[in-house]
Amino acid sequence: MSDNKVQIFDTTLRDGEQVPGCKLNTEQKLIIAEQLDTLGVDIIEAGFPVSSPGDFKSVEEISKLVKNATVCGLTRSVENDIKVAAEALKFAKTPRIHTGIGTSDSHIQHKFKSNRDAIIERAVKAVKYAKSFVEDVEFYAEDAGRTDNEYLARVCEAVVAAGATVLNIPDTTGYCLPSEYGAKIKYLKENVKGIDKAILSCHCHNDLGLATANSIEGVINGARQIECTINGIGERAGNTALEEVVMILRQHPYLNLDTNIKSEMLYGLSQLVSDSMGIYTQPNKAIVGANAFAHSSGIHQDGVIKNRETYEIIDPKDVGVTESAIVLTARSGRAALAYRAKNVGYELTKLQLDEIYASFLEFADKKKEIDDNDIHKIIESSKLYKEIISA
Ligand code: KIV
Ligand code: ZN
Repeated sequence: MSDNKVQIFDTTLRDGEQVPGCKLNTEQKLIIAEQLDTLGVDIIEAGFPVSSPGDFKSVEEISKLVKNATVCGLTRSVENDIKVAAEALKFAKTPRIHTGIGTSDSHIQHKFKSNRDAIIERAVKAVKYAKSFVEDVEFYAEDAGRTDNEYLARVCEAVVAAGATVLNIPDTTGYCLPSEYGAKIKYLKENVKGIDKAILSCHCHNDLGLATANSIEGVINGARQIECTINGIGERAGNTALEEVVMILRQHPYLNLDTNIKSEMLYGLSQLVSDSMGIYTQPNKAIVGANAFAHSSGIHQDGVIKNRETYEIIDPKDVGVTESAIVLTARSGRAALAYRAKNVGYELTKLQLDEIYASFLEFADKKKEIDDNDIHKIIESSKLYKEIISA
């Protein structure tokens, strides 16, 4: 792997599917997994095999289907979890076991009623056991975001020595600021013996709306894998959104970091995931929301009609959206009305436009959005109609 490649680890089918009420059946998971593989994700986390017979079957079927990506199964640091995951992954061309344990004091004291040394012992044992089944073992230090860096470095050092190939540093509760998360990755890069044998991975939750920013700060500071989901779906406020990190790296080439993602598939995948899970995507969602390339105020519409880049940093085609939308509302100006009227067949002169614009505003004050049928109605009811169509 080249040093400027960031691996995309998609967990839509595992962390993403933890959204209440969004359970997918195996058939739906297979359709999504195939699309993710074509999209170019490097790793597909297909599920948590020990959690249910259905999840086991999904991981097994996805392992048989996927052609290019590594297929990964989640486990706790529990022998049976690891054995079951290895069994579910046995058909994968490149299998990965993702095992781990909570490392923050809160997890150690309250969840495990244990102590720091004992947690390191369990972590090492789990990694060694996973290693007896597969070469590629990713270790997660759950709640790493609230784990002190010195202890976290000791955990990482121990699991790398035990054979972990990837170190996942989850901000499980979405607590960190980007500067803190970036500093954590930098600290591990500089203080874990043997770190060059492993890839550091960012796994950030969005409780404070910082998941994407934290993941980007992580890769700027040396991580080379981002764990993310389509549309940012996931537990509580969700995970890092795949489409956001991919496009941030694409739009900022001077970072010298890139992914293998075919960005023109992003919008289609977003729709597929939202339809399959029955989760509506907010219209103002970055990159894939219905309004991400829609312009409705007169000033913006005029700018975009003259030159799309005035108010757009991404060409919508690059993410699979056919074109920017000029939405007609009472805030729209003459330029937008002329543009939309032309799209439905009316080439208006300046005088005609002035006349039609007055009726348009009356109409638009009564209706939230003016569609193509409304444009026809407005023009057909104008005293200039005959003149307009005879031109
Ligand atoms: O958020 C988290 O800590 C996780 C781990 C299980 C990887 O999802
Ligand atoms: Zn998570």
